[in-house]
Amino acid sequence: MDSTPDTWAAADVFLVDTLVGHDPALEAALAAQREAGLPEIEVAPVGGKLLNLLTRISGARRVLEIGTLGGYSTIWLARGVGEQGRVVTVEAEADNAAVARSNVDAAGVGDRVDIRIGRGADVLPTLVGGFDFVFIDADKESNTIYLDWAAKLGHPGTVIVLDNIGREGEIVRVDSTDPKVVGTRDGLRMLGEDPRFDATALQTVGVKGWDGVALAVVV
Ligand code: DHB
Ligand code: MG
Repeated sequence: MDSTPDTWAAADVFLVDTLVGHDPALEAALAAQREAGLPEIEVAPVGGKLLNLLTRISGARRVLEIGTLGGYSTIWLARGVGEQGRVVTVEAEADNAAVARSNVDAAGVGDRVDIRIGRGADVLPTLVGGFDFVFIDADKESNTIYLDWAAKLGHPGTVIVLDNIGREGEIVRVDSTDPKVVGTRDGLRMLGEDPRFDATALQTVGVKGWDGVALAVVV
């Protein structure tokens, strides 16, 4: 097989068909956010399932998500924490939050999900800490701000997942002026240098192209 975006996507479809499956509530959430015109940048199905597994493996009960979009990843996380768990999710765009509210409610997990509308830099300081798991998937320019709040609002053992750390390999461009690349590189450097974190990252290919995810624990 040649390694091309098409073959990465085909292999990803096989993995979804084989391991993740096709859930009506999740597919309805995706259809609703497409219908509402939201950007198609939600986590891939394999990524959503990864979040779900990580919350279950870590036994997380209180999850913080930064960047709700239409609530697709939120549903995966809310399912992972179980009936007694809670997901607080922060979304800057009120229109996105309205789609997410409708999606999490339709998926039957609305009572576990608290959507806070506003920019992370404004909303995060208002939250009560104690989060066991933090998923950061918002504006890449603010990654270091979000990582700082993840550490402050977490505790030793809190799991942090940071999305989009590959950016089609652009992260190696030390002279990039693309704010998303700069923010991604800054976030990765912080995960490496700041003693509050111990981290690694995996590059991924699939339906979203060439990207990746960082995984960290609060020390
Ligand atoms: C972008 C953001 C994301 O969260 C993502 O998963 C893919 C792309 C973006 O802003 O380019
Ligand atoms: Mg993302």
